[in-house]
Amino acid sequence: MRVGVLTGGGDCPGLNAVIRAIVRKGVQEYGYEFTGFRDGWHGPLEGDTVPLDIPAVRGILPRGGTILGSSRTNPLKAENGVRRVKENLAKYEVDALVAIGGEDTLGVATALSDEYGVPCVGVPKTIDNDLAATDYTFGFDTAVNIATEAIDRLHTTAESHMRVLVVEVMGRHAGWIALHSGLAGGANAILIPEQRFDLDQVCAWVESRFKIRYAPIVVVAEGAMPKDGDMVLKDQTLDSFGHVRLSGVGEWLAKEIERRTGKEARTTVLGHVQRGGTPSAFDRWLATRFGLHAIEAVRDQDWGKMVALRGTEIVRVPLRDATTQLKTVDPRLYTEAGVFFG
Ligand code: F6P
Repeated sequence: MRVGVLTGGGDCPGLNAVIRAIVRKGVQEYGYEFTGFRDGWHGPLEGDTVPLDIPAVRGILPRGGTILGSSRTNPLKAENGVRRVKENLAKYEVDALVAIGGEDTLGVATALSDEYGVPCVGVPKTIDNDLAATDYTFGFDTAVNIATEAIDRLHTTAESHMRVLVVEVMGRHAGWIALHSGLAGGANAILIPEQRFDLDQVCAWVESRFKIRYAPIVVVAEGAMPKDGDMVLKDQTLDSFGHVRLSGVGEWLAKEIERRTGKEARTTVLGHVQRGGTPSAFDRWLATRFGLHAIEAVRDQDWGKMVALRGTEIVRVPLRDATTQLKTVDPRLYTEAGVFFG
C-alpha cells in the first residue's frame, strides 16, 4: 500500500505533527510506503512529489509550517484537472490520499472521493476553527495564544499613552479567534463577522472605558462588517477558490473611532504572525491524534471520511458534513462575552 499525503490552503501550526503521526504509524504498524505531494493539490495535479519516510519526518513535531508546502490550487478548476490527478496517482502507484486542509482543500477531497472514486481521507486544519463536524481544528489554539499575548502587550502600551488600540485578527467568515483571544485578553470590544457592528456602539464602549481611566482595546476579526457598509478589503484579487484577500477593517475602524471620539486610535494587524511558528502543546496533541486516526481510516479503507474531535474522542465523519456548512460563532457565546464590552 502506498499512501499520498498533501497539505493545502493557508498553513497552520501542527501540519507537520499530523504528517509525522501518519508516517510513523503507517510505516511502523502497517508497513505502508508514502509519497509526499508538494504544495497542496498542485502536487497530484502536476505530479510534483517529495520522498516521505521516517527519516523525513524526524524532528518536525515542534516545527511550524509544512514540510510538504502548501497552495490554494484547485484541481477542479484546472483543465482536465480530475483526469490529471488520477493519472498522477496511477503513475506514482499511490493507492490512497490523505488530504490535510480546510474548507477548500477538503471540498476538493470530498468531490474527488464522492464523485470521482478517488480514495481519500481528510484531516481538518485551519486557524479559523470554522470547519463543521469537529469541535476544534489544530492551529486554532496556537493562533489564539499568539493573539492573546499580543493583546496583553498592547494593554500596557495603550495605558501609557491613553490611546485606543485596535487589534485585527484573522477570521474570514468566523470570529472564533477574535472571540477567544478577546475574552482571554480582556478586550473592551470584540467584533466578529457573524454580527454586524454598530460604530456608534463601539465608540460608546471606547468612551466609557476612558471615563474610568483605562485605555480601550478593540479586537476585530478581518471579516467583520459595520452595520451600514460592506467588508473592508485591501484589494479585489480572487484566489482559485474565489476568495478575496482580506485585511483593512482594523485600519478603517481606528480612523473612524478617532474621527468620532477625538481620541487617538492606532491599529495592529497580527496577520500571518498568527499562523507561523511552533504549535502549542494542545495543537501538537490534537494534530498527532488526527494523524494516527487518519491512517487508521486508510487501513480500514473508510474513504470519504474526515477525522474529527468530539469532546475528547477522535471520530470519523463524512467529509461532506465538514465542507457543506461553516461552523460560525453561536450568537449566545457572543452575547455572553458582552458583559466585558465598554
Ligand atoms: O483560512 C485561514 C486564513 O488564515 C484566514 O483567516 C485568512 O483570511 C486567510 O487564511 C489568509 O490567507 P493568505 O495566507 O492567503 O493570506
